[in-house]
Amino acid sequence: MWAVAAAEFGAGLELVELPEPEVGAGELKVRLLAASVNPFDRKVVDGMLRDSGEHLFPLVPGTDGAGEVEGSGERVFGTFFHRPVGRGTYAEYVTVPVGNALAPLPEELDPAVAAALPTAGMTALQLVESLGAAESVLIVGATGGVGSFAVQIARAAGKKVIPIGRGDSLVEADALIDLVSADRSSFEANARYAPLAFNTNFVSADKAQNFSMKGSRETLVRLASMVQAGDLEVPIARRVPLREAVDVFAGHSHGKTVIIM
Ligand SMILES: NC(=O)c1ccc[n+]([C@@H]2O[C@H](COP(=O)([O-])OP(=O)(O)OC[C@H]3O[C@@H](n4cnc5c(N)ncnc54)[C@H](OP(=O)(O)O)[C@@H]3O)[C@@H](O)[C@H]2O)c1
Repeated sequence: MWAVAAAEFGAGLELVELPEPEVGAGELKVRLLAASVNPFDRKVVDGMLRDSGEHLFPLVPGTDGAGEVEGSGERVFGTFFHRPVGRGTYAEYVTVPVGNALAPLPEELDPAVAAALPTAGMTALQLVESLGAAESVLIVGATGGVGSFAVQIARAAGKKVIPIGRGDSLVEADALIDLVSADRSSFEANARYAPLAFNTNFVSADKAQNFSMKGSRETLVRLASMVQAGDLEVPIARRVPLREAVDVFAGHSHGKTVIIM
């Protein structure tokens, strides 16, 4: 099968031919139709998880995807991350433990749209639900994958949203979602503007402020329903064929990048 992979930690992506993955006990094999790109994928290639378990090389990144289950033909979408790390969704086939967050892909939903939803959509939905009764929310990094969804979901929940892009000044609000700060001091500076604050990069000394998405089938089903009802727009900025997907980490564009198999 064709895949896009890194030869070693920190290396660029290359088109490679690999054997199709063998399906193990308690796993599904999925023929992917589309995969989406998340910052986590690049972090994995850069070695973020190198001390936490085995990696396979060439390392195929990719957590999110949509495709057809081999054998049954059932269409699914969701998160495919599993260990050992390195056989991700930037490929024609992937295996996945049946317990992963996967949901049926509705007939009418474009697989590329579904593939763009899982990590960013579930993160945005759960972050907004963490805000409780906060009436106003600052969203730092509002133009990215998570931010694009969070802005829409927070507005639909009746909150006043203050999107913060590069160079924008913060103002006081009831809550803050910080999708950008990569160190504690940046986050603490932003958190002064709101009594309730979350970051997605695990940089706060206060663990309650370090948000971690919990993938679930139920959350995926909700997101797909919101898209189908026209209540959530999926901001796909780029659709790249798999065989040309060696540059998907470069030239970040707003919204989501999707790889089409
Ligand atoms: N903890 C979790 O469970 C979890 C889950 C999902 C994601 N994450 C993390 O959350 C972060 C955001 O994810 P994502 O998918 O939304 O990433 P993304 O698509 O790359 O979006 C990040 C956005 O932030 C903007 N940005 C960069 N620097 C900025 C600044 N100084 N001020 C305002 N905006 C700025 C970028 O705009 P430009 O295009 O102008 O650079 C980009 O639109 C990543 O670090 C990701 O790894 C964590």
